[in-house]
Amino acid sequence: MGDKKTFYITTPIYYPSNKLHVGNSYTTVAADAIARFKRLTGCDVWFLTGTDEHGQKIQRQAEAAGKKPLEFVDEIVAWIKELWEELDIDYDDFIRTTEERHKEKVAKIFTHFHEQGDIYKDKYEGWYCTPCEAYWTERQLNDGNCPDCNRVVELIAEEAYFFKMSKYAKQLEEHIESNPDFIQPVSRKNEMINNFIKPGLEDLCVSRTSFDWGIPVPFDPDHVIYVWLDALSNYITALGFGEEDSIYETYWPADVQLIGKDILRFHTIYWPIFLMALGQPLPKTVFGHGWLMLQEGKMSKSKGNAIDPRVLANRYSSDALRYFLLREIPFGQDGIFSLENFINRINTDLANDLGNLVSRTLTMAERYFDGVLPRPSSGEQASDTDLRELALATPVAVELYVNELKLSDALAELWKLVRRSNKYIDENMPWELAKDPAKQIRLGTVIYNLVESIRFISVLLQPFVPRTPGKIWEQLGVSNNQALQEWESLQEWGKMQPGHAVARGEDLFPRLNLQAEIREMQGDQPAAKEGISETAEMEGLITLDQFQQVDLRVAEIVSAERIPKADKLLKVEVDIGEGENRQVVAGIAEHYKPEELVGKKVIFVCNLKPVKLRGVLSQGMLLAATQEDGPLALTTVDRNVPPGSRVS
Ligand code: MSP
Repeated sequence: MGDKKTFYITTPIYYPSNKLHVGNSYTTVAADAIARFKRLTGCDVWFLTGTDEHGQKIQRQAEAAGKKPLEFVDEIVAWIKELWEELDIDYDDFIRTTEERHKEKVAKIFTHFHEQGDIYKDKYEGWYCTPCEAYWTERQLNDGNCPDCNRVVELIAEEAYFFKMSKYAKQLEEHIESNPDFIQPVSRKNEMINNFIKPGLEDLCVSRTSFDWGIPVPFDPDHVIYVWLDALSNYITALGFGEEDSIYETYWPADVQLIGKDILRFHTIYWPIFLMALGQPLPKTVFGHGWLMLQEGKMSKSKGNAIDPRVLANRYSSDALRYFLLREIPFGQDGIFSLENFINRINTDLANDLGNLVSRTLTMAERYFDGVLPRPSSGEQASDTDLRELALATPVAVELYVNELKLSDALAELWKLVRRSNKYIDENMPWELAKDPAKQIRLGTVIYNLVESIRFISVLLQPFVPRTPGKIWEQLGVSNNQALQEWESLQEWGKMQPGHAVARGEDLFPRLNLQAEIREMQGDQPAAKEGISETAEMEGLITLDQFQQVDLRVAEIVSAERIPKADKLLKVEVDIGEGENRQVVAGIAEHYKPEELVGKKVIFVCNLKPVKLRGVLSQGMLLAATQEDGPLALTTVDRNVPPGSRVS
């Protein structure tokens, strides 16, 4: 601690009205990634999450379940805590609004407002949306329904306490205007000013009398405190606001309060006004992120179309789910969840790009250097410089994006390094270098650079997918070398020690078969299945994933010869990259002479089941264009790319 810069980040506290879905998990995963990033870069971080347990909605749901409210929420809160554990959410504190430490402070805050003259008693007559726990005037309703969630509202008429919002409206508007970082992204700021502040803030009803599941108003116990006043206060009660020697002074004001765009009004109007009334500073940034949507609309606990994040995490790993959430919701916008999107992301980014990079590199280190990390030579070639410079620039770029809370962009930036490293393999073709003993030193340099680049990637992966770096470090043999896992180690290229053992381990993210996954998940995940069937069952069409199951590569023809007594067939040998040759029987003898084929680079299907034609083994297929009355034409590439290059 000491003189470290502090960083306080919060998530909304969730209603334990039902199990959380994959959409709600987004906020917490994003907050955790930011918190981990800040810890990695040397901040003294406090990360708070929790549950919002009072209010009419919870009381009704508990009644419907035949349980006492506390008994009802206890079960769901336990489930939520297990979910956070499974998703590696490393929070510093978890606040429940039913805890004494919270209730006693909220009661004091309410009394303070009352004594200060900010709260007065009157009668409320108007509309109430119980799922949103929000008051609405007739004018604000949308065709008679809640303008936020479009559900039915109830007319209520009861004695209530009111908070004088108008008293602070001007001060709030000025704060919003003069602190451009306060409401993020910027588009949301205008929405708040134009839709809520400019038309004039109405006084807010801050107590209810028609149910009792809440914190009683201390001086008028027939009333319970409005659940949003109760809930918003959690961000300071959890820090011990008002207590001597608490951590409140250390961490407040919050650096980032992460919320979904649907609860922006509560966090950028009510919450700052309550803080102003308490004479406390306002959070530096309230960030309203977009939603994870299903193809048919917003995912919602009460609509019953939610997807269970624990099922996804158990089946596909928590890292895969975290990666998907963080990558799929672009800065400030909505993202779409479907099993298809999810599996495709795992296959392309995690299995193909990252997983292959690690497995190819370590396979080569084992094959060519017996698993001992070679020493790089001092001379640098252009591709080495490129890779090194990109690796050194990536931490800076990733940090900039995380500071702007653009997590999807931060990951896209990191993946540029992953892809550049894969390209470095194709450019340097280690399997070709390995054929020539004179190129042994160059081969060692290439392998060394790849291993060092993977180390850079692994350090940067930590905040986003915390389980994967450990697996990579094991393969790189640096599990016990803390210094090579730290942020500072990325300031310099070449910290991996030559001479130590590296070993290929299990694949980080095995490739998944989309159709099989859809079939398997049908029982568990009706909503996920629906997202798929629309597209996959369109007649005659195949999905991108089905197409990608065909392993197409550029192959160079090494030799070709006629097959005795088979006029149409040639036996062709091709180099398909990474030191592997294949033999195929091709029906092209009437169109090409064997000698004119050698050296041609053609498109080749690598994962076709082997067959024997005229007793000759054929492992793959050369692609060719055919015409009814003309010669057949082999498909070639229009640039000189190395054998083994993927075709997609
Ligand atoms: N209890 C209040 C928050 C009080 S904070 C003082 C609440 N709870 S909630 O459980 O309904 O929602 C919690 C968070 O989940 C909100 O930020 C909301 O935006 C987010 N999400 C709910 N559905 C979501 C998606 N489909 N996608 C992304 N986030 C989603 O509101």
